[in-house]
Amino acid sequence: MNLVSFKWIIQWAIIGLLVIGHSEAAFRHSFRTSAQDGFAKRNRQLATEQKYNPNYKGQFQLDTSSITFSDGVVSGILKKQIPEKVDLLFPFTVSFLQDGSTRFQLDEKRRLEGDVDYDDAKVRMDRFDVAQYHDLGSRINVDTERPEVKIHNKKLLKVDYGNDQRFSMILHFQPFMIEFLRDDTVEIVLNQRQLLNMEHYRPRAERTREDESLGMWEEKFDNILDSKPRGPESLGLDISFIGYKHVYGIPEHTSSLSLKETNNSETGYTDPYRLYNVDIFEYEVDSPMSQYGAIPFMQAHKVNSDVGIFWSNAAATWIDIEKDSSSTSTHWYSESGKLDVFIYLGPTALDLYEAYSGLTGRTQLPPLFSIGYHQCRWNYFSEEDVQNVDNTFNEVDMPYDAIWLDIDYTSGRRYFTWDEATFPHPQETLKKLDSNGRKMVVILDPHIKNDPNYFVSKELLENGFTVKDSSGVENYNAECWPGDSVWVDFFNMEGQEWWGSLYSYDKFKGSDKNLFIWNDMNEPSVFKGPETSMHRDAIHHGGWEHRDIHNLYGHECINSTYRGMVKRDNGVLRPFILTRSFFAGTNALAASWIGDTLGTWEHFRGSLATVLTNGVAGMPFSGADVAGFFGNPDPELFVRWYELGIFYPFFRAHAHIDTKRREPWLYGEPYTSMIRNLLGIRYRLLPTWYTTFHTTHMTGLPILRPQFLAHPADEIGFDIDNQFYLGDSGLLIKPILEPSIDKTAVYIADDETYYDFYDFNEINGKGHHVVPAPLGKIPILLRGGNILVTRERIRRASELTINDPFTLYIAVSSKTGSATGDLYMDDGTSFDYTKGAYISRKITFKDGVLDVLDTHPHPQSGIRYAESMKHLKVERIILIGVNQQKIKIRKHGISGVSSWDVKVDTDGVIKKPDLYLV
Ligand code: NOJ
Repeated sequence: MNLVSFKWIIQWAIIGLLVIGHSEAAFRHSFRTSAQDGFAKRNRQLATEQKYNPNYKGQFQLDTSSITFSDGVVSGILKKQIPEKVDLLFPFTVSFLQDGSTRFQLDEKRRLEGDVDYDDAKVRMDRFDVAQYHDLGSRINVDTERPEVKIHNKKLLKVDYGNDQRFSMILHFQPFMIEFLRDDTVEIVLNQRQLLNMEHYRPRAERTREDESLGMWEEKFDNILDSKPRGPESLGLDISFIGYKHVYGIPEHTSSLSLKETNNSETGYTDPYRLYNVDIFEYEVDSPMSQYGAIPFMQAHKVNSDVGIFWSNAAATWIDIEKDSSSTSTHWYSESGKLDVFIYLGPTALDLYEAYSGLTGRTQLPPLFSIGYHQCRWNYFSEEDVQNVDNTFNEVDMPYDAIWLDIDYTSGRRYFTWDEATFPHPQETLKKLDSNGRKMVVILDPHIKNDPNYFVSKELLENGFTVKDSSGVENYNAECWPGDSVWVDFFNMEGQEWWGSLYSYDKFKGSDKNLFIWNDMNEPSVFKGPETSMHRDAIHHGGWEHRDIHNLYGHECINSTYRGMVKRDNGVLRPFILTRSFFAGTNALAASWIGDTLGTWEHFRGSLATVLTNGVAGMPFSGADVAGFFGNPDPELFVRWYELGIFYPFFRAHAHIDTKRREPWLYGEPYTSMIRNLLGIRYRLLPTWYTTFHTTHMTGLPILRPQFLAHPADEIGFDIDNQFYLGDSGLLIKPILEPSIDKTAVYIADDETYYDFYDFNEINGKGHHVVPAPLGKIPILLRGGNILVTRERIRRASELTINDPFTLYIAVSSKTGSATGDLYMDDGTSFDYTKGAYISRKITFKDGVLDVLDTHPHPQSGIRYAESMKHLKVERIILIGVNQQKIKIRKHGISGVSSWDVKVDTDGVIKKPDLYLV
């Protein structure tokens, strides 16, 4: 190399570094660090003081004379002692609930009583109460029977509660601290580090210079002013998980499944995990930075024990995590709202999820089509474009269930309209799709173009259902996709009703029964807004500041859409909605995806832990854009992403407008065939997926089960986040997340036999086993002891398979010689299942006998549906891991048991078992 070219390379390398450095920095700088968020800084300082000042004392003292216990609730008053001030009073309660959980609430007396003056009438005096707003009230039932005071002396109050009074709460008076015990072992402690904080009301006139420097009365970020009309009002609490080294949850971040310590140079995280819904495209991987959704639920796991907490707050929240050799201490702080924490003591993960999802809402049982494959891109630009894509799927013999339209199908990004030049006949297009059992999903965002000639804008403005700016009077106006926009205020119930009504067929002209909804940008995303979102001092209906409800905005948007869609189809059909933003409980209404990833290996890898975490924290119907939103992945990454994609609960291909077209056949052979096979696996497994969704719907258990849930006693698996199980099916999946490899080591946690899904080769023994993984073939193992239910005929869409016969794969346990499996089925579209119209079967195999049991709890209520499915049969049974020449089949039904023998071929296959499921 000559000197000139060497200099040239160096020069460009430097420029390159500068450009990359600059763009990364600029991007990071669009979002606050905790040091740039006044309340976070103040609460973190408290933690630093506690750590380094040996004389540190908490701010609150208990008035011991105030303690009472009645009807399942402990009440008391905490005093905050501030020099030169009379004591400030903070009433609290600890309520014992019927589901075995406990609830700790704290608020300031003055604010509860409205004894405050904000010299600015437009904002509320009280603190925002998520539980009340979110309508959790009906699900919170205090247990007035079982809790019992066991000790009450000068130092503490002890209450035993829960089933068999297995749980206890010990309230220590001095210093104030609450311990939660299970079988006399302390599991969770509130305020062990005395970081309890609730900033008290103070009149603006009393503000000091120091207050200003701490961002108490106003604060600027990115040169945008936050006026803080109520001054400082943050709240915080430390929550310790005793004996737990692993905590999970608090999505949405692209981090590890087992959460990392913050403020720790070893983990590289210097900031806490943040919960503040933002539009953060091309986000950082392996970072505690906020993403699009926020669920303040944390689970702690140790050998055979699960506990958790739900921090019921929708304002900006940060969570610090610290660990010592055996325990994890967390510190939670939010900008405003009430202090309201739910405490769950397990002991199993199922107990935990049942109670938590019983409170916030169980995951919707989605329509069957929505767990098929979705084809999206920004944008399919015309009806011809849609037709071509749809036809090509048929030509290349690939199944798909829905084609999606991004913002450019509309007339000038006016939602609920169609571009007349490119989509002149939407209903014809929908009909054509319907002829193959396919659907369309269209995007509709909550920002509305400010245009007096646009009917949505007109109705919105005339009715005043808009979010207001900090004046509380003027519309909040800013930029988003359509240019100058206003935002729907979903905190106005009439506004919600109105937005919901826009989905009716007479309002949304051109829509039809097979059209479903994608609500995007609902963090809300505001171009040029602070952190690309809404100003925190914008005002919502009822006088709430945006800061109070920020993380709930997307949820309420979806609430409104969901109700509108239910109404559109007269309460008969189940809606399907995709949302980008979410909060605890959104899972009952919609699916979500993890936003604007890059088409890189790094983002691809990051997607898995993110989707697993979403599942653990109660947002399990989740996925990532296949194969990355931005960029043009090479064929290897493209195929590998489809390999994992077929195991995302929500499986959709999507791409940015500037990317090259990438419908699944465009990379040519051999990739097209690989993807066809992969789609085939997803569709073959749909009965198993649907059964798994139903289990999740009933119990709150995640759809994808990380290793720590599948093997709760195996410590090695507690931080494994690169493999997972599909529900209770026994399928263990180990995706390939690195380039240029064709095998991988899968970790087996038990000494059961596992069978390769493709050739039934056996894998035996606890530990790592290398399995082949050539491109196009994702390692899948079936654990012995499970019966897998599939449908082997691949049709154009899932709807076309509902009368097809099943195949049973019976993978016999090498330990017990037996296997079991479940099947849940309904019409896949309507709410009739809520009235019993479904089939539920348990299938077991032992000692050469296959039993099929009806597990419908009220078989009579399902009889009509069952009758209509009488033709449903099992066409093949495949015995794996056992040699039999014949087996006996026993069918147990309402009318008794019938049994018969069937012959097994030499390859272990039973061709025509003559088994009808009904
Ligand atoms: C942002 C979403 O994350 C992306 O999926 C979508 O394509 C664009 N908005 C345009 O609507």
